[in-house]
Amino acid sequence: MDSVQIRQIHENDLVSAERASAVTFFEADQIARRVGDPEVEPRSATAAGQWIDRMRFYLTIDPAGCQVAVQEAGRADGAGEVVGFAVSQNRGRLWYLATYGVLPSHQGRGIGKRLMAAVLDHAGDRAGIFSSSTHPGATRRYRLAGFTLHPQMRMVGTVDRSTLPAVDGLREGGADDFAWMDRLDQDLRIAGHGPDHGQLLGSTRLVVSRNAAKPGYAYIDGHGRASLLAAAHPEVAQRLLWEALAASRGRTLVNCITAPNEWAIDVGLAARLDIAQEGYLAVRGMPLPAPYLANGHFL
Ligand SMILES: CC(C)(COP(=O)(O)OP(=O)(O)OC[C@H]1O[C@@H](n2cnc3c(N)ncnc32)[C@H](O)[C@@H]1OP(=O)(O)O)[C@@H](O)C(=O)NCCC(=O)NCCS
Repeated sequence: MDSVQIRQIHENDLVSAERASAVTFFEADQIARRVGDPEVEPRSATAAGQWIDRMRFYLTIDPAGCQVAVQEAGRADGAGEVVGFAVSQNRGRLWYLATYGVLPSHQGRGIGKRLMAAVLDHAGDRAGIFSSSTHPGATRRYRLAGFTLHPQMRMVGTVDRSTLPAVDGLREGGADDFAWMDRLDQDLRIAGHGPDHGQLLGSTRLVVSRNAAKPGYAYIDGHGRASLLAAAHPEVAQRLLWEALAASRGRTLVNCITAPNEWAIDVGLAARLDIAQEGYLAVRGMPLPAPYLANGHFL
């Protein structure tokens, strides 16, 4: 009998699941690394803690979307060892996949297929969205599940600060803004982020355009990266992205750029960043959001 069980994550799986995730993505990033890319670094203790906090949040909001593959009696203490994970969430009529992986030592045995089946069952007939790697096993699973794979671009480099324009009309945002932000999300990607907004605001700065005719918002992380950006109009999206670029120090990154979001390419080029390709934005039952830069964890 197969000793790998697929089941909902428990709180006491989180440390083992984090280790499985760190090992899986360290190897996947090494394989995907291109000549000239920086060396892949193992996940830091801080990032490991953030991963566990994020999983705990998903577990609190929508536990049935959080699945693990557990090798029974895999550890010396007799407890199961997490060898794979698929973490997804339902928000209204939208389902998203936050993370998905199987330990390299356990890949190619059908575990990923079983995990994906479990979380897609949780999705039901909802629309779906997530940011996908180029792993052939992953992309095969996604297409077979009816997702369209849209190539994504990313922009990297150091902002030429002489190009920064004066940006007006933006304010610091807060929890009072979440109601209209959710309505904007619904227009752009079927459903509001709901509780995800509170989670993002806990760790990143929120900048908003409260202009009722042209609303928009961006979460800007400590490195000055726009980690989620949504706007009703490309001109507002561009101002929000310039605000993020102005906050960057050293090399920066703008990612999850799909073809309908060329407004972001135009800003990045003006700031003298370089374009590269990176994975796919996978969607089903919905068009590509624009003007919009997805967040890989909260989509
Ligand atoms: C993607 C991943 C989760 C798949 O898990 P897995 O347990 O290896 O997958 P399975 O064995 O269930 O195989 C899934 C499907 O992909 C195919 N496949 C698996 N590895 C493959 C490979 N290297 N090349 C081509 N096809 C592959 C399998 O044949 C299977 O398809 P089928 O059932 O139609 O025959 C796993 O490979 C992984 O963790 N990769 C690195 C991290 C990553 O990229 N995660 C996705 C982030 S979006």
